Amino acid sequence: MSLETTEGPEYRIQMTDICKSFGGVHALESVSLNVKRGEIYALVGENGAGKSTLMKILSGATIPDSGEIRIEGKTVHIHNPKMGIDLGVSVIYQELALMPDMSVTENIFIDRINTGMKIINWKQLHGEAKKILKDLGFEKISPSKKAADFSIAYQQIVEICKALSRNSFILVLDEPTAVLSTVETEQLFKLLKKLRDDGVSIIYISHRLKEIFQICDRGTVLRDGKNAGNVTISEIDEHTLVSMMIGRELQNYFPKRTSHIGEVIFEAKNIVRGTVVNDVSFTVHAGEVFGISGLVGAGRTETLMAILGEDKRDGGSIFIKGKEVGIHSPIDALKAGISLLPEDRKTQGVLLELPIMHNITISCLSKLCRIIGVIDGRRERETADRLIKKLRIKIGNPWDPCSSLSGGNQQKVSISKLLGADCAVLFFDEPTRGVDVGAKVEIYNIINEIVTEGYGVVMVSSEMPEIIGMCDRVAVMRNGRITGVLNKDELTEQNLIKYSMEVV
Ligand SMILES: Nc1ncnc2c1ncn2[C@@H]1O[C@H](COP(=O)(O)OP(=O)(O)OP(=O)(O)O)[C@@H](O)[C@H]1O
Ligand SMILES: [Mg+2]
Repeated sequence: MSLETTEGPEYRIQMTDICKSFGGVHALESVSLNVKRGEIYALVGENGAGKSTLMKILSGATIPDSGEIRIEGKTVHIHNPKMGIDLGVSVIYQELALMPDMSVTENIFIDRINTGMKIINWKQLHGEAKKILKDLGFEKISPSKKAADFSIAYQQIVEICKALSRNSFILVLDEPTAVLSTVETEQLFKLLKKLRDDGVSIIYISHRLKEIFQICDRGTVLRDGKNAGNVTISEIDEHTLVSMMIGRELQNYFPKRTSHIGEVIFEAKNIVRGTVVNDVSFTVHAGEVFGISGLVGAGRTETLMAILGEDKRDGGSIFIKGKEVGIHSPIDALKAGISLLPEDRKTQGVLLELPIMHNITISCLSKLCRIIGVIDGRRERETADRLIKKLRIKIGNPWDPCSSLSGGNQQKVSISKLLGADCAVLFFDEPTRGVDVGAKVEIYNIINEIVTEGYGVVMVSSEMPEIIGMCDRVAVMRNGRITGVLNKDELTEQNLIKYSMEVV
């Protein structure tokens, strides 16, 4: 099938009146969407608006209750992902689906290797993989190496190659840049634009509105499972898009903070872990938001892990309120008064199979006991309700498993868990990853409240506007070292990039 074909109906994808309910939750109510060939189409909306569900329906991972799908003008019934792939639809999820121990070539041609081919001509396959990678401008990725040897950004490129090797001409990217740094995002965008110019239809889901304006042509806004409007991106501004998404005006994006910056409350001195964390020292004051910036792989998360005792430290010491504390495990860290919102909520943040309720209250269970060991059910419910309301977590029933929540709402559950614990210093690793604009502001407000109460906050973030908008001081890391600590008046994108790209 040629990608350049211009014959056929105006729209390559026509989804009409799609409905889908999960129990009592109407995830999608009569949603329609039309995408042309050779365009990048944005799908935006708050957490739980129904974006992923709509795309799962297009790819065959979820069956709709009603509605019609046409591809190239023909009505299709997509009952499973294999049918989706055969119809040319590939979805790239934020959680990558590569086999880490297999080579890049094996990953790209996995369908062909699994079926049909009796004798595999590796030389030929490596050659084909090399050609696809070269055509896309990524000759640096060696096809015979293991997928796990490459950064997440490159693994994502391999996923795209896999989709292209299947002749997919409809490519769905569900929050692809959540795990990428600015530079890597630029690389991805260059590739997406090239694919668009080759005629691929790309549906792009992201909570980073800047990106929508940077690469998308048209788009649909979903709100509470309904279509809140179709837009041509060049004709609207960010403010209008946000209002459409949340159904109201959003005032201050980075709310003002009135915290008083006090004494040093936390100090990390000469932290070392192998070669990934190299002599890292910094202090955090009470009432301060201290940022850690840098590219993916610069050692930001690793630094937090070494401090928290999650990874074994090879050197360095930690002080809370001037007193040295011995931390050898996350439990020691919690006892010393440090808690963490982890970067990867799927494996570390929430217990997916446990009810939402228990996930929220798990860190403060001891406070919810009237008699030792017996949880006061009413108090547990009240605590959970308060946090659900405060963070505006969109849930059906608090006894449903956490896995039934949309991605962003799982992140909010993870934050509520952190707030339940009582600590002097809170570490937030990518706190707003996958979270919608409205909820981002809620999270910023919560961070502001925390520091105003005199706690210290350490925030790792790949989103530069967030670092600039929220932090009092920022350490920039590169290759496991701090290359500079910037004060508020020095916080600009240029400075952050400068310190994260070169040793200064
Ligand atoms: N398997 C499921 N079981 C129960 N409810 C579900 C299931 N999948 C989705 N939902 C519900 O459907 C609604 C839409 O979820 P969806 O994942 O499509 O949202 P989203 O727009 O992708 O949000 P996010 O930006 O947070 O990823 C949510 O209320 C979610 O809880
Ligand atoms: Mg989603």
